[in-house]
Amino acid sequence: MNLSIYKDYNDLSEHAAETIIALVSRTPDAVLCLASGDTPLLTYQLVVRKAIKNGIDFSQCTFVGLDEWVGVPPTNEGSCHYFFYHHLFQPLRISNGQIHLFDALSPDLAQECRKMEKIIYAKNGIDLMLVGIGMNGHIGFNEPGVSPNRYAHVVELDEITRAVGQKYFPQPVVLSRGITLGLQSFLEAKCAVLLASGVKKASVIRQTVEDEISPALPASIIRNHSNGHMMLDEAAASALTGKGTSQAI
Ligand code: GLP
Repeated sequence: MNLSIYKDYNDLSEHAAETIIALVSRTPDAVLCLASGDTPLLTYQLVVRKAIKNGIDFSQCTFVGLDEWVGVPPTNEGSCHYFFYHHLFQPLRISNGQIHLFDALSPDLAQECRKMEKIIYAKNGIDLMLVGIGMNGHIGFNEPGVSPNRYAHVVELDEITRAVGQKYFPQPVVLSRGITLGLQSFLEAKCAVLLASGVKKASVIRQTVEDEISPALPASIIRNHSNGHMMLDEAAASALTGKGTSQAI
């Protein structure tokens, strides 16, 4: 695993945006699986700005959803769906045929999981999976205790996720389940990038980097990824002691 530490959120976002722009410039038909959330927001705004300024063509890319809140409609501002249309797909004029998100209102969520796996398989895998990290160490909605062998699945959300997740919603909402790609999907992505920013993530980042790789801390699996990159700002990296950093296991 490769670990990079940037000065602040702006610098981190700049480099993360460059990673996406460089991939799409090199591989115009790239398959991208991106996280929603506060952390990558500036990254996507910078991607849009750079793509427009430099004429980067996203029209051949495929976008695959990472996760979604079960039961939350796409019109709700707190949904991952809304986030992507608003911050990335509409500004980049991505066509609907390029977009494959979980339908979290589907009466058959198992079918939604199979749908997503089939798309990923048909597209020869994910080129870039860019994730954030939850306060409990989750990636996507892979909550503590999840099996590392799982592909897409439906989960009961952890208490921390239910509480922290309220921040995305204009009104309080009942969050009980999530639908997500699994840790096996993450491990099979050709490139995996985990972004973290801010001192509130410092403790979970220290555990991710320095403690044992364990399902108790799902994000730690990135250290088993053959092309895994952690991109942190100094605040998120501030609790690292130096033990175990950059080790490939
Ligand atoms: C959410 C999402 C994740 C996201 C993470 C961190 O619950 N399911 O995909 O990466 O938590 O979010 P943030 O970047 O807002 O801290």
